[in-house]
Amino acid sequence: LVGMMIFLSGCDIKKYPMDHEQLSAEERIVIRFSHIVGENTPKGLAARKFASLVKERTNGFVEVQVFPNGYLYRDGEELEALVQGDIQMVAPAMSKLSTIVPEWEVIDLPFAFQNSKEVREYLEGEKGKSLLHLLEKSGYHPLGVWDNGFKQMTNSIRPLVNPDDFIGLKFRIMPSSVIQNQFQQLGATTHSNSFNEVYKLLEKKQMNAQENTFSNIVSKHLYSLQDYLTVSNHGYLGYVVLMNQDFWNQLPEDIQSIIQETMDEVTKWEIERAEQLNDEGLREVETCNCIDIHYLTEEEKQRWEDALRPVYKNFADRFGADYIKSLPKNK
Ligand code: LMR
Repeated sequence: LVGMMIFLSGCDIKKYPMDHEQLSAEERIVIRFSHIVGENTPKGLAARKFASLVKERTNGFVEVQVFPNGYLYRDGEELEALVQGDIQMVAPAMSKLSTIVPEWEVIDLPFAFQNSKEVREYLEGEKGKSLLHLLEKSGYHPLGVWDNGFKQMTNSIRPLVNPDDFIGLKFRIMPSSVIQNQFQQLGATTHSNSFNEVYKLLEKKQMNAQENTFSNIVSKHLYSLQDYLTVSNHGYLGYVVLMNQDFWNQLPEDIQSIIQETMDEVTKWEIERAEQLNDEGLREVETCNCIDIHYLTEEEKQRWEDALRPVYKNFADRFGADYIKSLPKNK
């Protein structure tokens, strides 16, 4: 077999014969894909599907090993591990990208988007493209954008109907100053903790509130520890699937094409799963008889939006008004 030599970051020199089936285990390209959520979530299922399709389409030459639940790298560690080349793929929530490129917090602005299609369109527009470009400049190669859906509020103190109801609550949040500011405006305090600790924090009553999507609330049984849930759909939670850029650049072109085409296909599938799992999650909490559910009305939503207006001003003061002007609701 005639092979060409390629160098892979974190790996030894590999031979890359044209016939992948002839390769021994040591000669494969191994992509370690680490994520922090459960397997029965949009991200968890899509990561597994991506791995199996890539394996099939490269005749086993590329092996994507998926590590869920933060088993390999915990929340807050995975972006650094990717840049170090210890892992090759991650799919962090956009709010967490703000630890590298703070402008990503525009996606966290409350009630900025009505559905995930609007988020996709924003990311395809000029400001969105610049957000992705800023990631590339920091050593990350974006492969796709995956959905989770919209966040809901849960807590163990009182129903959240009006802005004043948030006063004094202690929210676990993702690391994003827009999210922090959102709760500050409502009179609640926040702590940014690892996703993998949320259950314990609520159980030990170190926090009494949190916001997340139905699939995360249900797959981690967070609703079993909370008494009140408000279906607010106030903020979007999606992911950017990232590869280590040096690793990506050193992949043979035909492998890059297979990976990208597979990612595009899995992304379409993932978007449908996100919708399905969040619908199922809502039904599960509706039928558990274990949590009081409030559906935010249009008038109440307007009151929340009014109370949260300063969050937009703070963001504009930090990053300029252009990111906000390009939001679908301002067009
Ligand atoms: C969270 O920390 O709440 C989310 O980022 C978890 C996830 O990745 O969906």
